[in-house]
Amino acid sequence: MAFSVLTIIYLLASVSFITGLKMLSNPSTARRGNLIAAAGMALAIFGTIFLYTDDTGTKLGNYSWIFAALFIGSVVGTMAARKVKMTAMPEMVSLFNGMGGACAALISIVEFNHLSHEIYQSAGITLNDIFPASASYSAWFSEMAIILAGLVIGAISFAGSMIAWAKLNGRINDFSFKGQHIFNIVLFVVVLGLAGWMAGVYQNANNMVFYLILVLSLLYGVFFVLPIGGADMPVVISLLNSFTGVAAACGGFLYNNKAMLTGGILVGAAGTLLTILMCKAMNRSLLNVLIGSFGASAAGTAKSQVQGNFKEINLSDAAILLSYANRVMIVPGYGLAVAQAQHSCHELEKLLASRGVDVKYAIHPVAGRMPGHMNVLLAEADVAYEQLHEMEEANEEFPTTDVVLVLGANDVVNPAAKSDPGSPIYGMPILEVELAKTCIVNKRSMKPGYAGIENELFFRPRTSMLFGDAKKVLQDLTAEIKNL
Ligand code: TAP
Repeated sequence: MAFSVLTIIYLLASVSFITGLKMLSNPSTARRGNLIAAAGMALAIFGTIFLYTDDTGTKLGNYSWIFAALFIGSVVGTMAARKVKMTAMPEMVSLFNGMGGACAALISIVEFNHLSHEIYQSAGITLNDIFPASASYSAWFSEMAIILAGLVIGAISFAGSMIAWAKLNGRINDFSFKGQHIFNIVLFVVVLGLAGWMAGVYQNANNMVFYLILVLSLLYGVFFVLPIGGADMPVVISLLNSFTGVAAACGGFLYNNKAMLTGGILVGAAGTLLTILMCKAMNRSLLNVLIGSFGASAAGTAKSQVQGNFKEINLSDAAILLSYANRVMIVPGYGLAVAQAQHSCHELEKLLASRGVDVKYAIHPVAGRMPGHMNVLLAEADVAYEQLHEMEEANEEFPTTDVVLVLGANDVVNPAAKSDPGSPIYGMPILEVELAKTCIVNKRSMKPGYAGIENELFFRPRTSMLFGDAKKVLQDLTAEIKNL
């Protein structure tokens, strides 16, 4: 009875994960989708705790340990999620993802210990007792292969995510040495070779080999992420996220747990798709992200090719231009997030709309520092989703736009991506703001953005620079327009 109820619970949980994931694709349903998936996860967790029984009919037990861990995890998770700043979100995702990888690796360690002499052999049971002689090889191989896959992928994901977290919050810097890529490849081949040998040839639950694979996998995770440019970290985090999903799916196989399997596969697939989409939006291959260290090399060659004078505009002229325009397109970027200016931006947009100006937002897929950064930021300020236009759509509208207001964006509006084959961002699709009648760019200085390169847009005749912190500038602009 309990088994069938648990099966239904796992089915419901799996459906909730799929429904939740689908709802995450639209900001208006994303919050609800998240809650639905979380409710499904809670159902699966409590169903397992109270209804699971093993072959001998024994329940899980250890309730005080389980609930103490659940309580501590829930408190820490809730506090971290409430406190985190939008710009520090990739860091937190990385940290939490690392915990998922560690869990998957721990599952493998626990299950290996079940197989190895610590439990069975000390009780005088041999592997042949566990796997009947007729099926022993294939049963041993499949169980051990899944345990090792979970161990290797989980450990890489854990170590890599911890390094990504430490790099993003400035605790450690990029680090690489000559020949590191070769070293990484050799290390990876050794890990795979040892794991394949242990599962397929050696056929012995030897602690030494198992823990050597664990240590080498952790080392690989560290050396895999250390040299990657800090700014490429969101792509790497998304990749590590997909690793964690696959590692969790291995746990699902081991325990024959459908909810764990579905959840792991969904995370693995979603992480992989997101990684591919981010690479596409930057026009770079995954290999280039992993071995090219874009941020670092770009900064190194950041010598300006761009010469000329830029034009400055003052607040009152900018206010006049904006309020007498028919169509205004706002282009948010990383600087808007840094300044936490989303609410001030929405205020300005509402004021302009109340004066009959048609105001829209143009969203570049990699504006900011994480996937959907601008969508989340603007949703936080209650900007209507219909006002957000994706890149292709926005690019069609720029030629008929009177004023483009660029707020703390730089690389995503850099025309060098189209015109300069030597530029590190060459080929990256951009928002073609230079096609509008006028372009006002707000940032604090002439410093480059993430890719570390100059932006020719700032020197174009139709562009005017409006210097200052985005929040302050938007508040002052709003006040000016009210006084017009
Ligand atoms: P960036 O190119 O990084 O430019 C942001 C600009 O904001 C800077 O030039 C900075 O200039 C300005 N800024 C900083 N603080 C400000 C403040 N308080 N007020 C006003 N301006 C401020 O940003 P972007 O155009 O959004 O491009 C994103 C970049 O990140 C792309 O190169 C993209 O490839 C990369 N990236 C994104 C992702 C995802 S998924 N979003 C993932 C990996 C990489 P000042 O210092 O002069 O103010």
